[in-house]
Amino acid sequence: ATERTLSIIKPDATRRNLTGKINARFEEAGLRIVAQKRVQLTKAQAGQFYSVHAERSFFGELVDFMISGPVVVQVLEGEGAVARNREIMGATNPANAAPGTIRADFAESVEANSVHGSDSAENAAIEISYFFSGCEIVG
Ligand code: CMP
Repeated sequence: ATERTLSIIKPDATRRNLTGKINARFEEAGLRIVAQKRVQLTKAQAGQFYSVHAERSFFGELVDFMISGPVVVQVLEGEGAVARNREIMGATNPANAAPGTIRADFAESVEANSVHGSDSAENAAIEISYFFSGCEIVG
């Protein structure tokens, strides 16, 4: 079924001017960018977005990294978009990411791993509504 997922191009990637190259990966895989904005997250916003990880040892560093520069938040739409996007991104740790994936090709580390993608349709709905209102998503 046609689905939507929340994607974030992270500060390591915007810093290296990789937004277009990463977007081309999505589009070549048949995902449509139906909403997109470049934003500088505040500490409170990043902490809220990643609140599921609040108890993890890396939470503080993750939040500091996510506010270290601009991010591009976007909604990707397509057939099985959540799983499709996860395939294109590759494993969270670039050392484990399959060749040809975004993280294998662009990520610097498990933290500076260039992209975030929702891990389920349920979380996608929550994450999309965190950043976008209905009329900002144009399918
Ligand atoms: P993301 O998909 O954005 O969701 C949580 C993020 O935590 C993850 O990608 C990683 O970039 C980040 N992270 C930082 N350190 C770790 C770690 N040791 N294990 C897993 N994720 C980590």
